[in-house]
Amino acid sequence: MAEYDLVVRNGTLATASDVFRADIGVVDGRVVTIGAKVGAGRREIDAEGRIVTPGGIDSHCHIAQRSSMGVMTADDFFTATRSAACGGTTTVIPFAAQYRGMSLRQVVKDYHACADRKAAVDYAFHLIISDPTEQVTGQELPALIKAGYTSFKIYTTYDALKLDDRQILEVLSTARRERALVMVHAENHDVISWLSEKLLAAGHSAPRFHGMAHAPIAEREATSRAISLAELVDVPILIVHVSAREAMEQIRLAKSRGLKVYGETCPQYLFLTADDLDRPGFEGAKYMCSPPPRDKANQEVIWQGLVTGVFDVFSSDHAGYRYHDPEGKMKHGRNAPFKKVANGVPGLEVRTALLFSEGVGKGRIDLPKFVSLSATNAAKLYGLYPRKGTIAVGSDADLAIWDADKEVTITQSKIHDAMDYTPYEGMTIRGWPITTLVRGEVVAEGGEFVGAAGKGCFLKCDISPATAPLGRRTIAFDPATGSAESSKHVDRAQ
Ligand code: URP
Ligand code: ZN
Ligand code: ZN
Repeated sequence: MAEYDLVVRNGTLATASDVFRADIGVVDGRVVTIGAKVGAGRREIDAEGRIVTPGGIDSHCHIAQRSSMGVMTADDFFTATRSAACGGTTTVIPFAAQYRGMSLRQVVKDYHACADRKAAVDYAFHLIISDPTEQVTGQELPALIKAGYTSFKIYTTYDALKLDDRQILEVLSTARRERALVMVHAENHDVISWLSEKLLAAGHSAPRFHGMAHAPIAEREATSRAISLAELVDVPILIVHVSAREAMEQIRLAKSRGLKVYGETCPQYLFLTADDLDRPGFEGAKYMCSPPPRDKANQEVIWQGLVTGVFDVFSSDHAGYRYHDPEGKMKHGRNAPFKKVANGVPGLEVRTALLFSEGVGKGRIDLPKFVSLSATNAAKLYGLYPRKGTIAVGSDADLAIWDADKEVTITQSKIHDAMDYTPYEGMTIRGWPITTLVRGEVVAEGGEFVGAAGKGCFLKCDISPATAPLGRRTIAFDPATGSAESSKHVDRAQ
């Protein structure tokens, strides 16, 4: 009689700490045994010659979300998670986005209505806070954090989302009290709008000028400011989608000072450049995202940030808007000025394979580092570990089985999202997750989706240990309690 529902046999397992040969026994969707020659399974997968990693966790993607400019993403929860599954990603953490005047509780209900019978892989939600009223910070957020929404994103730019510094302090202080993780989109809004106005007034409206308006200095300033505000409040933060040396150096400096500042980067900053924004006609719109892709030198800098630990997570920031679609990039016409083009690029399906091919395959990172960046660290930061993000007894049997030698030429016709282009069209990579399992069920096999809508489960996130404050004060006053202390306990900011 079979001892296990499933056995994955003879694979080379890679976790964030080790690479070793073993079989995996699965019962009821969980890993129950890891070892040599485990007993029989009702289903067996022979992974001889394959690498078995934890399923990827894409902790930054926009699904069924209306952008700050009012454009709906192309993907709903089914197409996005189908695409994730085919790219070896078994958990996604998209956003439940609050716009001003909205109740956060209602926002969360609305996103659940979009996701709950559609998702094909497991999912959690980050919140986007654009209206931190007393009701939100005092009541809604604490209740939602207790209910498993333990991270939220704030913006320093976009008219519809941007918080001022005072609001950021209020949100950071709520996060410290409730032990939530704040993700920051860090770009200086006034720099971008001022530069945009000047560019447009001079007749420079093509997509490439989006790249100029979103100057690296704007990213650096907002990153440094966010870090300073977080240091004042003594709360960990995560700077998302870092594109360039300037912002990256701020994170490296903060880490070297012992601050709990985490960093995220994305494929578009390793594989795209400002030249893509300058493609003929309106084509550059396909590559417009914020912050924008920079130059070749910055790609190398971002790789170094991945190698040296400045970046903790590698996410897609999948925000797909179709190109030939009046509801997509061309909503305001086929030659719309850059300010009117929806920001975002797709990348859910190719994220892990790009990092595997150009990171592991080219010898820049080893397999454990690949696993940490594509799965484990996100699980730890967002309170899903060890249920997700590793292969261990007791963890969900979320697995990606890799053919490290398979050559794939990326093309949109083979991608399973709802987009009509991929920014990585024509790129040949080596290594592909040929089988993906969510809780022991095969959801993608040989490049085809074999899962089903509604099989993905909602995941409540725990409070992450990563959110623990340092206990370092930079002023002799605790704004949360109102207590003034002797200044001898103060750590001077350096
Ligand atoms: O351009 C981007 N990144 N669009 C998605 C929204 C965001 O800011 O992450
Ligand atoms: Zn963002
Ligand atoms: Zn984003």
